[in-house]
Amino acid sequence: MNKKDIFILAIESSCDETAAAVVKNGREVLSNVISSQIDLHKLYGGVVPEIASRKHIEKINQVIEEALNEANVTLQDITAIAVTYGPGLVGALLVGVSAAKAISFATGIPLVGVHHIEGHISANYIENKQLEPEFVCLVVSGGHTHLVVVQDYGEYEIIGRTRDDAAGEAFDKVARAIGLGYPGGPKIDKLSKEGNPEAIRFPRAKVEDAIYDFSFSGLKSAVLNYLNSCEMKGEKVNAADVAASFQKAVIDVLVDHALHAVEEYGYHKFAIAGGVASNSSLREAFEKECTARNIEFYYPSPIFCTDNAAMIGVAGYYEYLKGTRHGYDLNAVPNLKLGER
Ligand code: KG4
Ligand code: ZN
Repeated sequence: MNKKDIFILAIESSCDETAAAVVKNGREVLSNVISSQIDLHKLYGGVVPEIASRKHIEKINQVIEEALNEANVTLQDITAIAVTYGPGLVGALLVGVSAAKAISFATGIPLVGVHHIEGHISANYIENKQLEPEFVCLVVSGGHTHLVVVQDYGEYEIIGRTRDDAAGEAFDKVARAIGLGYPGGPKIDKLSKEGNPEAIRFPRAKVEDAIYDFSFSGLKSAVLNYLNSCEMKGEKVNAADVAASFQKAVIDVLVDHALHAVEEYGYHKFAIAGGVASNSSLREAFEKECTARNIEFYYPSPIFCTDNAAMIGVAGYYEYLKGTRHGYDLNAVPNLKLGER
C-alpha cells in the first residue's frame, strides 16, 4: 500500500439502498456493497420512508463492514469518510450520516458530506478514466431530472430541471398504471422491447421561456387518459405498445433538450447519470445522436447508475482534495441544493 494513496470509505442511504464502498485515489472502486430494499417496498408500490429508515438501521453496520472486508482494508487505511447528507428522505439520510459521524468521532478520520446528485454525476469518472470537466451531464433519477454543466470537480451550473415529475417518477407511475409494479423503470425498459414506439403519439412537452426545463406530468396524464379511454371503449390495451410509446416520448425530450444544450453551450462532451440512465433505449438513442453530432458520449454501467456508494466515494474524493470537511454537527438536509456546502 502506497502511503500517498487516498482511500475513501463512502456511505449512501438517501432512499431505499443501504450502500457502502471503498474507493482508491478517486477512480478505483475496491468494493461496492449495496443492500437493496426493493423487495420490501414492492409490496406497497413505492418507497415507504419509515420502513426505509428502519431497514437502513438494521443493515448499515453490516454493509460498511462488508465494504471494508471486500476492499481488503481496515479503518486504519481510510483517509476520509464520505457520506450522502442530501437530498433524500430525511430519516433514511440520517442513518448514513449518523454512522459516518460515529466512525469519524471514534477514529478521528475526517468527514466529508456529499451531495447525492454530485455522486450520480461522479459515477461517470469510475469507468471513463480520461473523463474530466468541463462537460454537460443529464441527471435522470427517481427524484431528479437536472441538466447540469459540470464546470469543474464540485462546480456545477444547473441549466435545466423538471417543473413537476422526475423522469424516473414518470416511469414508475406509468408502470403502475399498466400493472407492472415497482420499480417501473426496468420493467418498462424490458416490456418496450416487445412494443412499437410509434404505436401511440404521446405529447413531447416544452416549457415556455425555459428551453432546457422538462415537464413529465402531462405525458403521465396522457398515458392515463389513453388507458381510461380504451377501458371505456372496451378496447384491449397493448401494454407493450403503451410502454414503448411512453418511453419514446420521454427519450425524445431528454435527447432533444440535452444535446441542444451541449451544442448551444459549445461543449463536446456529454454524460448521463442516475437510475434512468441505465435505460437501454435511452443509451442507444444518445449513442446514435451523439455520434451524428460529433459529441463524446459517457455513461456509467447500470450498477453505477442506480443508487450506490462508489459514486459517493468518487465525489467525496474530489471534495476531500478541495478541502471540504464537515464537523460532527453535519445534519441530513432533505432538500440540499447542488453546489451548496
Ligand atoms: O438513481 P436512482 O437509483 O434513485 C434516485 O436517486 O432516485 O433512480 C431510481 C429510478 C427509479 O425511478 C427507477 O424506476 C428508474 O430509476 N430506473 C429506470 C431504469 N432503471 C431504474 N428507468 C428507466 N429504465 C431503467 N432501466
Ligand atoms: Zn439517486
